[in-house]
Amino acid sequence: MPGHLAIIMDGNGRWARQKNLPRSEGHNQGTKTARAIVEESRRLGIPHLTLYAFSKENWARPKEEVSFLFSLLSRFLQKELQSLIKQDIRLNILGEPGDLPLATRKVLEHACTKTKTNKSMTLNLALNYSGRCEIIRACRLIVQKGLDPDRITEEGFKDFLYTAGQPDPDLIIRTSGELRISNYLLYQCAYSELYFTKTLWPDFTPQELWRALEDYAHRQRRLGRVEPA
Ligand code: IPE
Ligand code: IPE
Ligand code: MG
Repeated sequence: MPGHLAIIMDGNGRWARQKNLPRSEGHNQGTKTARAIVEESRRLGIPHLTLYAFSKENWARPKEEVSFLFSLLSRFLQKELQSLIKQDIRLNILGEPGDLPLATRKVLEHACTKTKTNKSMTLNLALNYSGRCEIIRACRLIVQKGLDPDRITEEGFKDFLYTAGQPDPDLIIRTSGELRISNYLLYQCAYSELYFTKTLWPDFTPQELWRALEDYAHRQRRLGRVEPA
């Protein structure tokens, strides 16, 4: 089992287009998948789950789609909060929620506060997230702190990332057939195993999650070493 599973939830728009539905309907269905995958990951005992919900680059989408996504997120979190608490899941945000609409920010803050002491799983939402911005932000924090350049280490650098205190993702899943990382967890993904599936996010099921985990279990993570005899 991965200690940290990260997912790029992609393909909502294409799912909707295939069905002649508006893109918003794809995002609606996508939240249903997200709920099922969070529950299943928690049930399987995965301690850290990260979902890519909105990239900084996603601001380039039509205004209506962007505001729909934020209102959907607010409604989703309000609806799911009790269930997160019941499942002992801590909600954590990776990114810059400060740029989000006030109403969404309030719901996020409330959900994070209410789940702060939960222990069974950390659910990271990458929201207004960019891997490059995260690295630059870490550099700024280090400079502000006046750290001695000789004392900056690979491990120490991680304390300045949004994921401070959490392990690097062992497995990154991307749905919808795109074979790219799209600015996701750039520092943290150095040795992550990657799993790509053509399934569109709204069609992704717990069964397919098991398939990905099964595949991961057979991977040999050499981390630069030679294959064991
Ligand atoms: C992923 O689905 C959801 C977000 C990026 C918010 P997309 O909206 O990217 O769906 P496609 O890639 O257009 O099909
Ligand atoms: C990545 O999906 C971001 C999220 C899943 C939130 P995109 O659909 O935005 O990525 P690109 O544009 O295809 O690389
Ligand atoms: Mg996409």
